[in-house]
Amino acid sequence: MRGSFITFEGGEGAGKSTQAVALAKKLATMGIGVVSTREPGGSPGAELVRHVLLSGAAKPFGTDAEAMLFAAARADHLDTLITPSLENGKWVVCDRFVDSTRVYQGVLGKAGWPFIKGLEKLSLGEGSPNLTFILDLPADIGLARAHERRGEGAPDRFESENLAFHEALNEAFRDIAQREPDRCVLVDANRPKDRITADIWRLVRKRLHPETAPMTIEEIAR
Ligand code: TYD
Repeated sequence: MRGSFITFEGGEGAGKSTQAVALAKKLATMGIGVVSTREPGGSPGAELVRHVLLSGAAKPFGTDAEAMLFAAARADHLDTLITPSLENGKWVVCDRFVDSTRVYQGVLGKAGWPFIKGLEKLSLGEGSPNLTFILDLPADIGLARAHERRGEGAPDRFESENLAFHEALNEAFRDIAQREPDRCVLVDANRPKDRITADIWRLVRKRLHPETAPMTIEEIAR
């Protein structure tokens, strides 16, 4: 049986990574084989592209070129990690995916929907997520958290944009959640993290029924 593909999306500092880790752990305790990954990156080839994108080296080439690089990295990530894992019955939990390109490059970068849709057609194939959690947190709180986490390090290509950029970004993510309610769930991320984790788990059970997933060899042997 093919595994389920779950993605986490949202603005900077919204707690995606924390929640993705918590969900992967919970699935693993149920004996489900889980692959945790992230974008940009997630496969050796895509990690190289990640470096080019987040260092800002591709910025001079414009948003369309950046969007193409995100899509190229995604195609490699899908081919070499995500699709084979799903076909092996594993569940895949990914920190950021295609909605980040829609929002950062499509809406904020003004690449526009026809262009982004064309890239999705080329890079995604059957690789659409089964379930996407969009973590929603006021931009000022998210940026403060991202700043705290970073310490003295320099902000990356996108963290260094201003507050209005990050507010528009949240708005664009909310818009996706509203347009695609079958795939997406908007999660209020301005709450204690354990409560968010519990909500996410409840929704995964309701929508994807992990209790019916095949168990791993380790679980059967226990
Ligand atoms: P990362 O260091 O992974 O941080 P986080 O996910 O915690 O914000 O940075 C990834 C950055 O790349 C982030 O600012 C969003 C941006 N991004 C895009 O602009 N387009 C994309 O398609 C993806 C996947 C990410």
